[in-house]
Amino acid sequence: MNILEARNLNKTYAVENRRITVLKDISLSITPGEFVVIAGSSGSGKTTLLTLLSGLDQPSSGRVTIQGQEITGATEDELAPIRNRMIGFVFQSFHLVPSMTAKENIMFPAEIMGKKDAEQIASRLLKRVGLADRADNMPSQLSGGEKQRVSLCRAMVNQPKLLFADEPTGNLDSKNGNIVLSQLIDLKTEQGATLILVTHNPDIAKAADRVLTIEDGRLDREISGISGQGP
Ligand SMILES: Nc1ncnc2c1ncn2[C@@H]1O[C@H](COP(=O)(O)OP(=O)(O)O)[C@@H](O)[C@H]1O
Ligand SMILES: [Mg+2]
Repeated sequence: MNILEARNLNKTYAVENRRITVLKDISLSITPGEFVVIAGSSGSGKTTLLTLLSGLDQPSSGRVTIQGQEITGATEDELAPIRNRMIGFVFQSFHLVPSMTAKENIMFPAEIMGKKDAEQIASRLLKRVGLADRADNMPSQLSGGEKQRVSLCRAMVNQPKLLFADEPTGNLDSKNGNIVLSQLIDLKTEQGATLILVTHNPDIAKAADRVLTIEDGRLDREISGISGQGP
């Protein structure tokens, strides 16, 4: 069974008196364990697509199914447990809670799930990304790369089946970007998760199983990654 399916997604925004169509008839299927890159120029609709695929926002038409369960039209009460249990999200700008320590940021989604061992899991993840000694630091005391490694731990704390990353290395220099990327891929592989990552970095795209290109709101052509058949 596909872990994620989108059928005929359209997304329209009302801007002043006009309606602008940002996504046009997008369909895709993703199998468990895949690493799929979504590429495309700025403004092409990549972030909008991720928010629809992850249930953070609803399409204007079409539907999204996660592990056979339709999330389109689901109420916030129905969506919240799916999001908490199934989905991890890494943002370009980290989105850490500034008043919580690194460890508390990571524990937070696990505590929402009522996990008793949230602290041990958070400590283990921090160690895994080489930040055990930064557990009690506030985000303001961490570098960009360190903040993103904390965000990565937070995204993985509930062992999501689906990991979404929106330009996770976009605010980092190439050295720190590479550390974050390799840790992201390692954690995804160790936990058997599926990774859907937005980037316009061709080096990252090379590491993917599949690259989907979005252009002007349409899914364009499909380029096979290293594990696929080349063109
Ligand atoms: N909430 C919104 N209201 C109106 N227009 C939006 C909104 N969100 C995104 N857009 C527009 O949708 C288009 C795609 O945006 P986005 O998905 O952020 O692109 P990308 O992530 O590929 O840079 C852009 O033209 C953007 O201005
Ligand atoms: Mg974007």
